[in-house]
Amino acid sequence: MQEYKIAVIPGDGTGPEVVAEGLKVLGAVSSKFGFNYKTTNYDFGGERYLKTGEVLPKEAIAELTKFDAIYLGAIGHPQVKPGILEKGILLTLRFALDQYINLRPIKLYDSRFCPLKDKNPEDIDFVVVRENSEGIYKGMGEFKEKGTANEVATQISYNTRKGVERCIRYAFEYTRKRNKRKKLTLCGKTNVLTYAWDLWQRVFNEVAAEYQDIETDYAHVDATTMWFVKNPEWFDVIVTDNIFGDIITDLGAMIQGGMGIAAGGNINPEGVSMFEPIGGSAPKYTGKNVINPLAAICALSMLLNQIGQTQAAESVEKASIQVAREKLKALAAGKMGYSTSQVGDLVVKNL
Ligand code: IPM
Ligand code: MN
Repeated sequence: MQEYKIAVIPGDGTGPEVVAEGLKVLGAVSSKFGFNYKTTNYDFGGERYLKTGEVLPKEAIAELTKFDAIYLGAIGHPQVKPGILEKGILLTLRFALDQYINLRPIKLYDSRFCPLKDKNPEDIDFVVVRENSEGIYKGMGEFKEKGTANEVATQISYNTRKGVERCIRYAFEYTRKRNKRKKLTLCGKTNVLTYAWDLWQRVFNEVAAEYQDIETDYAHVDATTMWFVKNPEWFDVIVTDNIFGDIITDLGAMIQGGMGIAAGGNINPEGVSMFEPIGGSAPKYTGKNVINPLAAICALSMLLNQIGQTQAAESVEKASIQVAREKLKALAAGKMGYSTSQVGDLVVKNL
């Protein structure tokens, strides 16, 4: 019988607490659906860095490629200068494992959780496909005359034909498979960023011709943030570049009820993918058993989907929705009416 190999990186802050609940759910759902798995823990994160000075051991990447999936808690430590761990662990893994898609479902589970007036679960149910390997995140740029009055800092958005095309193709395929409204919106900035978004728009139009069953649309990124608030029901799937995707998905998380529920997947369709709650390490809630584990549990559901356990994935998502709807007072840390571990238990009970 097949045994899935899952690498677990609990990471910093509340990461270990929420990952523990995810693993509790994994244990329960695996016996229910009859599959085996083995987890291997990696202690990457702020504590390890402070102790050893090392962010990622050099053999880590090669080792991680041997797994079926990676389950990540959170990266970011209050005693470590911003950027070191984020770049050294999270971005390095995304790039080195060529996880070129960042998939972020924006789904409202209950009207009570939505900060927008008169919006219901049927209005907020879309997915952002964020390019995850290029753009501004590539790290290209330079200082000129650093520290002088004439200093110039450039930061380049690097977009390759191949990189853009594989992302757009993934988005069209995803829209077709999702089979909801079959609408794909390109979110860009063709009116100002006339190199990068010219390429994106051309590739989008070319690939669209192969997908006659998919309705296409375009929205500038600034307008997209407006529509997220005003008419989120217009969206089905959105495809965008790395930085725009980063920004709009935080707004997306808020309209679906906050960081307590927002999950994401860093996907290499041909390799190893990594799933995470997108809320970060939340230092002020660490160790208090108050953080909402549902984002991590929903990330687990995405992981299960990716490794082919689609029924288990669906069961975990349904149980999470039910717990959120029927039990939780709110999704925010400390306001759920239950502790972190109680929410994990409730999901297990509802599987
Ligand atoms: C995210 C985060 C990361 C990003 C940071 C922590 C590097 O904000 O996953 O959206 O910018 O991609
Ligand atoms: Mn972000």
